[in-house]
Amino acid sequence: MPNTFEGTDFITIRDKTREELEIVMDKARQMEQYRNVGTDSARGHLMGTLFFEPSTRTRISFQAAMKRLGGDTVGFPSPEGSSVQKGETLADTLRTVSQYVDILVLRHPSEGSAKLAAELLDIPVMNGGDGSANHPTQTLLDLYTIRKELGKIDGKTITLAGDLRYSRTTRSLARALTRFDVELILNSPEQLKMKEDLLVELEEKGLSPKETNDLESSTAEADLIYATRIQKERFPDISEYKKVAHAYEIDKDLLEKNGEPLLLHPLPRVNEINTDVDDMDNTVFFNQAGNGVPVRMALISLLLDLPGR
Ligand code: NCD
Repeated sequence: MPNTFEGTDFITIRDKTREELEIVMDKARQMEQYRNVGTDSARGHLMGTLFFEPSTRTRISFQAAMKRLGGDTVGFPSPEGSSVQKGETLADTLRTVSQYVDILVLRHPSEGSAKLAAELLDIPVMNGGDGSANHPTQTLLDLYTIRKELGKIDGKTITLAGDLRYSRTTRSLARALTRFDVELILNSPEQLKMKEDLLVELEEKGLSPKETNDLESSTAEADLIYATRIQKERFPDISEYKKVAHAYEIDKDLLEKNGEPLLLHPLPRVNEINTDVDDMDNTVFFNQAGNGVPVRMALISLLLDLPGR
């Protein structure tokens, strides 16, 4: 079968079919065998990592993935120390770095920044998060984790909880879930409800989520809860953030009383998940973060059309 990913970009889930999502997940399962021992399929290839916003998991797992494939990475973890400090535009930074590397991952606070990079550059661009808009590679590892933990995605009831207004992880995941046969529950305080444009998009794709602010019932009904941090840095007005900063907390008691659904979180957690859940079998968020490596190995391999070793 020809590799339709070769030389393309990975910017949003919106233009990905179920089949394409499954191709990456299947490839990721193959990559598990190299996750700790590595391979040399990307030898001689360089990935640029341009992070204009803080990152632990996305940046380090991308770097780990490229190095496990036998390639290498160059880039910056924050714009301080780069020529952005001197006033260089994003477009000029991108054009320059693309001279040095074969593939690029970009994280930037502006919505649409990754799309701009993809339009500008000939090399594959992967979106490591653009403002509150998209985080499609996180979604790949979220789907992969669900499939690995629950056996399948179809037929499951999934609760997205927390900041559904500003969190890009839930926006991208909700889009992906339209490709599957799931029940979706959206649990958030009124001020953090999912934006109307996305609700309309989900409806158009045949997914009619149930919106609620009742954490007990949305835990009890769910096969899995996907919790998110309240995205402090995205609030235009910090006083609005303070009103919802402690809007919800998931703890052991809540999970035990409500059927112990699987608990996912893209991390970092702040105060929305009590650490008393950490030793429970159904809390998988650190494994979820670990899955970022085989999933990103798979995506890089497909975009660069590396040999399938
Ligand atoms: C998320 C992000 O950056 O959007 N983190 C991640 O990539 N795993 C979630 C968050 O910051 O809350």
